[in-house]
Amino acid sequence: MAGTGIFTEILDGEVYKYYSDGEWKTSSSGKSVAIVNPTTRKTQYKVQACTQEEVNKVMEMAKSAQKSWAKTPLWKRAELLHKAAAILKENKAPIAESLVKEIAKPAKDSVTEVVRSGDLISYCAEEGVRILGEGKFLLSDSFPGNERTKYCLTSKIPLGVVLAIPPFNYPVNLAVSKIAPALIAGNSLVLKPPTQGAVSCLHMVHCFHLAGFPKGLISCITGKGSEIGDFLTMHPAVNCISFTGGDTGISISKKAGMIPLQMELGGKDACIVLEDADLDLVASNIIKGGFSYSGQRCTAVKVVLVMESVADELVEKVKAKVAKLTVGPPEENCDITAVVSESSANFIEGLVMDAKEKGATFCQEYKRDGNLIWPLLLDNVRPDMRIAWEEPFGPVLPVLRINSVEEGINHCNASNFGLQGCVFTKDINKAMLISDAMETGTVQINSAPARGPDHFPFQGLKDSGIGSQGVTNSINLMTKVKTTVINLPTPSYSMG
Ligand code: G3H
Repeated sequence: MAGTGIFTEILDGEVYKYYSDGEWKTSSSGKSVAIVNPTTRKTQYKVQACTQEEVNKVMEMAKSAQKSWAKTPLWKRAELLHKAAAILKENKAPIAESLVKEIAKPAKDSVTEVVRSGDLISYCAEEGVRILGEGKFLLSDSFPGNERTKYCLTSKIPLGVVLAIPPFNYPVNLAVSKIAPALIAGNSLVLKPPTQGAVSCLHMVHCFHLAGFPKGLISCITGKGSEIGDFLTMHPAVNCISFTGGDTGISISKKAGMIPLQMELGGKDACIVLEDADLDLVASNIIKGGFSYSGQRCTAVKVVLVMESVADELVEKVKAKVAKLTVGPPEENCDITAVVSESSANFIEGLVMDAKEKGATFCQEYKRDGNLIWPLLLDNVRPDMRIAWEEPFGPVLPVLRINSVEEGINHCNASNFGLQGCVFTKDINKAMLISDAMETGTVQINSAPARGPDHFPFQGLKDSGIGSQGVTNSINLMTKVKTTVINLPTPSYSMG
């Protein structure tokens, strides 16, 4: 159970502690932040409302701990990461339980998130040992006008303090996808979890604590974004921010100083369906892509652009599958569970009502109970409807019928977002041309969009983000290149 067994020390009465200087602490604010269970809509957990002074303290510790961590051999850093991964996986049950309660993720998917996170940490440790263990050696005489008098040695060095801000929908996985690359590269790490997802994050951080990382190297600050959000992101000690979430990321990037940013800010992933597509395959992928975790994934299929000639058949196939989706509590592994908050449910309802007023065809009756919204496929959506452009982050999927491939590509490219997209066709040549024409960070051919496997590059164009994720790219983003040049008095050619 969450907060029990090895996790007892992270709880103070009924409020979870924050993690600073290698210890679990209660905030001097005397205040807490409530975490509302999306299913019951009642307070499930409470976390500390940390103060700005506590943020300052954590930053000070992070700066000094990083100096010695950077001098810790790479193999030792990797060893500790492997240990944390093992502890995390051993304790998947209580962590998954808090995911179920805090963010209403179905129980099985919650376990998958924790296991996937352990695997990511281990992969990152191995990849770090490989890519950080080698540098480059350049010779000056390849550039015009130079003799071989300069030997240039390059290696990758840490940035310093990395601030990680994961979102509510993958609080554990998208936290470790920032923590592990930062640590293997020799950085220290300050984590600011989302409010919903904070308790899962605190459990995950305790696994790193038990693995034996040095004091102050990892910290986890909880509290209200309105009180400590800007203070954290604009803190002078921060040398890199890795953020996943909504358009708050745009304001963070405007306010952040001259530091590397890794931002993933959502998408409106299009699914383009051509006339020759395998419609059964498309229908299964639309269900998986559009409705897993109730559509609350940045990589969810968020608009289907289908050729008119096959639209009726596809819509019928998807409708039949939607009817089979189970709706209810995450504890019972229902496919569709409550969305994260009442405000999110209200936003989704606003998009649905707009589509209704403007004449979309409802393939199911619209139904809502509290934060629970039944899966809904909207056919004959037109570009004047908000749902054609905005991301509901819920189980509502619009279908736009198109008369040419160009129309589909134009719709996809007119979006402010550019995260992923997918195209279904049996013609690989056409698929490649469409992929090249789509202004998105990734295009999946004959499958729904997805970030994983976690070592693949993951990036968005336009308002979908800055920088690229995936294990290797994250390690590289959290390092800088350092060079040392050996200058010789006379040119030297080995074996010359
Ligand atoms: O919500 C954003 C995540 O990066 C999506 O990850 O494709 O594994 O669901 P996923």
